[in-house]
Amino acid sequence: MRLFAVTVLVAGTLSTIPVQAEDLLAGADIGYGEYLSGECVTCHSQDGADKGIPSITGLDPETFATVMHAYKVGDIEHPVMKMVTSRLDAEQIASLAVFFASLPAAE
Ligand code: HEC
Repeated sequence: MRLFAVTVLVAGTLSTIPVQAEDLLAGADIGYGEYLSGECVTCHSQDGADKGIPSITGLDPETFATVMHAYKVGDIEHPVMKMVTSRLDAEQIASLAVFFASLPAAE
C-alpha cells in the first residue's frame, strides 16, 4: 500500500504533470531539504518506520518529487498531502526529495 501512489503514476499519469522529469531535481539543496523536513517528520517517521503513514525515506528522489507534484496538482487526491504540497515550490520539493532519499530506507 505504501507505494500505491507511485504505482498509480507509473501506470500512466506522468504526462499530466507539468514539470519535466529532468527538471524535477533542479535547484535541490540537501541542507535546505533537511530544514524543511521538520514539518514532514511530525507525520512521516524519520527512521523510515511505517506507523500507518507511509515511509518516505530512501525513495528514488525523482519518484519522490513526482509524487509530491502529483499531490500538489491533485493527480493523486489526498487532502493532507495536498495542503502540505500546496505551500511548497519546485525547488523546495526537489530539496526534500534529495534529503529524504539520503536517509536509510525502511526495514
Ligand atoms: C499531517 C500529516 C502529514 C504531514 C505533515 C506530511 N505528510 Fe506526507 N503523507 C501523509 C499521509 C497520510 C500520506 C499517505 C497519502 C496517501 O495515501 O496517498 C502521505 C504521503 C506522502 C508521500 C507518498 C508516499 C508513498 O509511498 O506513496 C510522500 C512522498 C510524502 N507524503 C511526503 C511528505 C513530505 C515531504 C512532507 C513534508 C513537506 C509531508 N509528506 C508531510 C501525511 C503527512
